Amino acid sequence: MFVLAHLSDPHLPAIPRARLHELAGKRGLGLINWHLRRRREHRIEVLNALLADLAAQAPDHIAVTGDLVNVALPGEFAGARAFLDSLGPPERVSFVPGNHDAYVRAALAQSHTHWRHYFAADEAGGDAADREAFPYLRRRGPVAIVGVSTALPTGPFMATGRIGDAQLRRLDLMLEALPADVFRVVLMHHPPVTLPRDRLKRLIDAAAFRDVLQRRSADLVLYGHIHRASLAWLPGDIPAVSVPSASANLHGEAPAGYHLFAIDRDAGARWTCTMVTRGLAEDGATIREIARQTIWPRTR
Ligand SMILES: [Fe+2]
Ligand SMILES: [Fe+2]
Repeated sequence: MFVLAHLSDPHLPAIPRARLHELAGKRGLGLINWHLRRRREHRIEVLNALLADLAAQAPDHIAVTGDLVNVALPGEFAGARAFLDSLGPPERVSFVPGNHDAYVRAALAQSHTHWRHYFAADEAGGDAADREAFPYLRRRGPVAIVGVSTALPTGPFMATGRIGDAQLRRLDLMLEALPADVFRVVLMHHPPVTLPRDRLKRLIDAAAFRDVLQRRSADLVLYGHIHRASLAWLPGDIPAVSVPSASANLHGEAPAGYHLFAIDRDAGARWTCTMVTRGLAEDGATIREIARQTIWPRTR
């Protein structure tokens, strides 16, 4: 059995002091939002409790689907690297960026400098730029992890994402080339489904993404961004699962939580996958099992 953990959107609650010129435009508005609202929801003590619980579960691999930082100040990136390191070495942790990690254009270079080992492909022609391109492919045990980037800088009050045609083409080829006997997991930040009330937060090319997946198939899609847990079935019988923010207290969109996926084969060599939800208890301090659900084989 292979256990894959999924957490997302920690919005690491330590923001370094900004220099005045760094507060122009979207960052300044984001910092105001942080101090008015998000700072009360994303709490370091909640995140620490969740990480301690996760460590005790000892998963084989951890998927992190973005929004490590808040307004992408240069000082936030080193702190986020320490967070990734605390989860495990790059061999055991796979990351895809969120919209907050690409808050302003300069942030993309910063995320590359500090975090690239966590989104490096296993192999790709020896070219460093190619190894760090999206989507990436990592094979771990019976699982193929495909990391897609949906993060792009946007205007104020927007949190949309886009995969883009070049990535979609590479994704199509990557999935086509995968052997039949691997469990295919796709990681992304934005939802592959369109949620009516989240129009300003949507993935612009979600329909094109779903087309590629339906054509090439996948066994599990994991995403963050909406800060709540959900399970939806995409065309082609593909489960897409979101998770709450890893640092949200009881006042957030949904209390903090993460998922564990136990992936195995049954006697008939069919995939089995059980999802365990662990999250913040009503006391606001401890993490406990919330739910347990069979994903594969699918029960209708
Ligand atoms: Fe987020
Ligand atoms: Fe996000």
